[in-house]
Amino acid sequence: KRVAILISGRGSNMAALIQAAKSSDYPAEIVGVFSNRAAAAGLETARQEGIATATLAQSRFETRLDFENALTAILDGWAVDFVCLAGFMRILTPQFTTHWLGRAINIHPSLLPAYKGLDTHARALADGVAEAGCSVHFVTPGLDEGPVILQARVPVRLGDTPEALAARVLVEEHRIYPEALRRLASGETRYPADVKTGSHHSD
Ligand code: GRF
Repeated sequence: KRVAILISGRGSNMAALIQAAKSSDYPAEIVGVFSNRAAAAGLETARQEGIATATLAQSRFETRLDFENALTAILDGWAVDFVCLAGFMRILTPQFTTHWLGRAINIHPSLLPAYKGLDTHARALADGVAEAGCSVHFVTPGLDEGPVILQARVPVRLGDTPEALAARVLVEEHRIYPEALRRLASGETRYPADVKTGSHHSD
């Protein structure tokens, strides 16, 4: 299966997917990396791996839909079967997410459905939770709302800062994201037939 990764920044999850896909028995190949920010550090990592890259500045487009249509043209050009969002910091329209339903997944640094959105670690620590973690889920119109494919848990330690907790969670992100993509690309996991696509955007 052919996979594109969408990033906006550092791209450490992207790098973990690229590494995993090098294994000969991995069912997916990373064929392209797209960033909505030309300065994203992950683009350089992808280029060093010999992977095609593309960027589009959203400021060049009148509407979100125009931007996404241009993005879809890039993904179609790469003949992509699946899309992995990895630190992609742009909200996608229901048109886009519905077009890719069951074929697009995201990694989020919380134990969904808890702590959707930004600043997950700071909010979790402020609440005094004992456990944090990360989730890989299908992308649906609702932000961080789609069916979960895999999760990993980590303990919260005394005196944890958001940065310390983020680093502990990130180790698990790099482990479960390649495994979730493996399950999706191999057909072991698919979008649950009983979950409606939904058109509501909460939070
Ligand atoms: C990760 O924590 C991911 O879960 C979140 O944004 C961060 C991206 O990091 N969505 P990286 O770009 O993959 O290093």
